[in-house]
Formats: sequence, structure tokens, C-alpha cells
Amino acid sequence: MAQHGWVTQTQNPARTADAWWRDAVIYQIYPRSFADADGDGVGDLPGITSRLRHVADLGVDAVWLSPFYTSPMADAGYDVADYRDVDPLFGTLADADALIAEAGRLGLRVIVDLVPNHTSDEHVWFREALAAGPGSPERARYLFRDGRGPDGSEPPNNWRSVFGGPGWTRVTEPDGRPGQWYLHLFDVKQPDLDWTNPQVRAEFLDVLRFWLDRGVAGFRVDVAHGLVKAEGLPDWAGEHGLLDGTVAPMWDQDGVHEIYRTWRQVLDEYPGERVLVAESWAPTPERLADYVRPDEMHTAFNFDFLETHWIAADLRESITRSLAATAAVGAPTTWVLSNHDVVRHPTRLALPQVGRRPNGIKATDPQPDEALGLRRGRAATLLMLALPGSAYLYQGEELGLPEHTTLPDEARQDPTFFRHNGEVAGRDGCRVPLPWAADEPAMGFNKTGATWLPQPESYRRYAVDRQRGVPGSTLEMYRAALRLRKELRLGRGDLSWVDDASDETVSFVTETPGGSVAVVTNLGREPVKAPAGEVLLSSGELEDGQVPTDVTVWVRQ
Ligand code: NOJ
Repeated sequence: MAQHGWVTQTQNPARTADAWWRDAVIYQIYPRSFADADGDGVGDLPGITSRLRHVADLGVDAVWLSPFYTSPMADAGYDVADYRDVDPLFGTLADADALIAEAGRLGLRVIVDLVPNHTSDEHVWFREALAAGPGSPERARYLFRDGRGPDGSEPPNNWRSVFGGPGWTRVTEPDGRPGQWYLHLFDVKQPDLDWTNPQVRAEFLDVLRFWLDRGVAGFRVDVAHGLVKAEGLPDWAGEHGLLDGTVAPMWDQDGVHEIYRTWRQVLDEYPGERVLVAESWAPTPERLADYVRPDEMHTAFNFDFLETHWIAADLRESITRSLAATAAVGAPTTWVLSNHDVVRHPTRLALPQVGRRPNGIKATDPQPDEALGLRRGRAATLLMLALPGSAYLYQGEELGLPEHTTLPDEARQDPTFFRHNGEVAGRDGCRVPLPWAADEPAMGFNKTGATWLPQPESYRRYAVDRQRGVPGSTLEMYRAALRLRKELRLGRGDLSWVDDASDETVSFVTETPGGSVAVVTNLGREPVKAPAGEVLLSSGELEDGQVPTDVTVWVRQ
């Protein structure tokens, strides 16, 4: 039995101080848009397997796959009809097994997405619930309620759907009459489960085991803050957006934590340090840290950092507060700048740095400055990858891909767009198929040229084959950053702020088991002096030993 500090490995490997996930870099694959082996225009699992070497060559530790399960695709697969099978659009269970095996050969762990807040309305449970009628045990797995008003024609409360419109839909009962309402915090086709129901709890424990048995390294938990609703489902007059300090009755209820404790026990039964990562839009960094207490999840995306504007003081504050909050519970902070739900960070950082980030950008909106965005995006990435903790990358960010900001409305597919009557663009612009080879059909995404969303012409410039081996390219910057991060163990660093630089820099020294590294990001208008020492990497060219505007530099001291 190997001794590892205060805990023996066989007792609980995931709690050891050197556990892999504490400083891992994990690459998010959005299966629809990564690589398309069968040429139907939608990416698939064999496509992913065929391109995994690109991911391994980047130098990341693991991949996280967005959902590939059986689904009517009302929300691009986040509406799951069968948690234990693969949708034919993406392949078969055998393809999933082959992917996991190939990833293992390449030294990559595989994290899959778990969607426990809601099922698809085409899940057998929801079909049974509709057929069984009010008061039945089948309905009790979801949140069915009678409507308000004399004839029950008003929704049970005033909650809204995150995608726009009401959060409730009325059903027609088996006898043909208008009947009860069901809650859906997302699309009409995503009914919320009732997590007070023991069958729901048991089912997901079983789903966890199903995938753990197939060799996955863990789960990204969708809407982890949503499973438990406040008793009585009270009306809510506040904002439905989160990260604003308030706890709404449908989000971040204390009862969710007990669920994750039971999941953690299941994961800990398996060898190999399997992990849970929370997608939790908790209202504060401190409440987010509750999800990563020692007996709950391992990590949680830090969306506070993602939402912070390109303003030095705000970034310093977000980093300080996040590190303190997770340190208080003995967990790492998990940094992320882009994913399949937000405007890609190079584009986001070129927008006016005020107010809330937009939900997509339309062709008729003011168009962001692409060069400025790329410059800031690269600087933001080198800042993030120097911070202690773990980090997530979103496919295509290693190419510096911008958002597709001129998608025609007819091409859009995100339910957000439709539920806002076309007034909000939604998330399609960050989900466009990847460019692998500039001059091939669909830019190398497949061999037929079909793509479920059109690729902008500009993506040719960002194609993998235009960047591989090209000094200074964004792809080579990411590879160098990930290699150095690993060598120097930057994810294990101990950060101290440096005050002597300008107020418009994010400037710190990180003491790592691999040495001492100074990091400066210049967000001001004037160049600032680079720290003394050996320049290891920078996101843009230094000018006479100065760090120009919107550049990050790493210096060994
Ligand atoms: C968060 C996922 O990341 C998003 O894509 C999805 O629409 C919602 N959860 C609902 O499942």
C-alpha cells in the first residue's frame, strides 16, 4: 500500500496533494464541430478519434466531450433521451469505446458530460409521465404542477426559461383536456427532473457507473447548480442571470451538495482518480467553492474569471478572490476563457469592456476588431495558463479562432435564438466546425464539404495546416505554453502580486517546484518594463525589453 503524505493511495487517491486534476489542462471537444468522419456535415466520434493526435500533441492531459448521447438535438445534445447510448448522428457505443481506448494510448483521459438537471421530452420517463397522468409516480420524476387561476391556465409560478420565454409548458392530458404544467428551465423539450425523487437519484448513480465502467476519467456536470429547487417553487422577482450575488430559488440551493457527496463516493470506489467538474453559475466565488469541498466535486469552472472584463484591477480582484475561496476548502481553482456557450474569448475581449457579455453577435451588430481580439485573446491565454490550478481550453482556441459574427439568421440552430424571436443571436457563432486544412472541402472538417453551420472565409487563415510549425502562430504559442507549464509546474505555483508595475498590469511572481516565474500582462496604453530574467514566452513581440499593450510575458527569474 503506497504511502502518499497523510493518506494512503488505496484509501483515497483522489485526495492526494499530487492528484493529476489539480493542475490538469483539459481540452473541450464539441463533437458536432470537431471532425466529421462520415461526411454528413456533423462531427462524430470516429472523426474525433481520427484527430486525437492533434490534441495529444498540444500537450493537454485530458479531453472533455460535450454530449454525444441519444437525443432529438433540441439543444445540440443537452437534451438526452438515453444516457447509456450514443446518438446515431455521432456513432455507436463501440465508437465511444474506441475513442476512449485511443485516447488512453495517446496518454489522454476522457471526461464525459452528464446532464442531470433535465432529460429530453423524448426520454422514456417523460413519455411515461405524460401517459400516466396527474398524481402518478411517473409524473413525480419531473416537476409537474397544476396551473394557477380558476381554470389552471396560468403557469404555476413566474419562472422564466434561460433560453427565453416562460419556464413552464402546459400539457394535454391523456383524456384530451388541457392539464398540468411542467417546469423546464431551458427548452420546452428539456423537462426538469425532480431531484427529491429517490428513483431519479438512483438512476444517475447507475449512469455514473455505466460510464465509469467504460473507462471514462470523470464527468463535467451540466447545470450543477440547478438540480434542487426551493421548497414550494416560490415566485422570483430577481434577475435570472447569475454571478450577481443573489441566490434565486431555482439555482444554487444548498440541497445540491448532498447529491454530489453521494456521487463522490461512487467515483472514489474506482481506481485512477476519477473526477467531477461542476458547471455551476454560483452567485459568488465563495458559494462556488462549496461545490469543491473535500467530499464533493473535485473542480468547478471559474466563470467569474471568464466574465471579467479586460481591466487589470478587475482581473486581479477576480484571481485573488477565486484563489482564496478555493484554497479555503483545499481545492484548486479551475480557469476557463471559452466554451460552447460563450462568445469566443478573442472576440469577446475586442468588444467594449462594459456591461454584460452578449449572447452571441449578429451580422447586423457592430463588428469587433479581429486583430485586437486576437492580440488580447493570446495575452489572456498566457495569463490564464500561468495561474495556479487547472484550466480548460475550448476546441479551436489553440488556433486563435474568432467567433463567427456574421452567421445568417437562416443558419442559426440555437434554441436561444428562436425563443427570443431572433432578437438574441445565441451560441451558434462559437460552435462552427473547425478548420483543419485551408484548401480542402469544409476546410478539412470532412471530405464532402457539408457543414451543419457555415464556416466563415476568414477561418482559412486560422486552419491547423497554416499554423503547424509556423513560429509565432497561435497554435505554436499554445504548444510552447503547455510544454513550459508542465516543465515548470506552473499549475502548482504559489502566486504573489507584484506592486511595482503600473496599475494597468496584471503582474505576479509564481514560485513553483520548477523555479520562480514572473508574469506580466499589460492592459494599459503604455509599454511597461519586462521583469529581469530569461524571457520564456510572450504572446506578442517585446519592444526594447518592454511589454507592449495587450501582451503577456513569462520570465524565468
Ligand atoms: C449548459 C450547457 O453548457 C449548455 O450548452 C446547455 O444549453 C445548458 N446547460 C442546458 O443543458
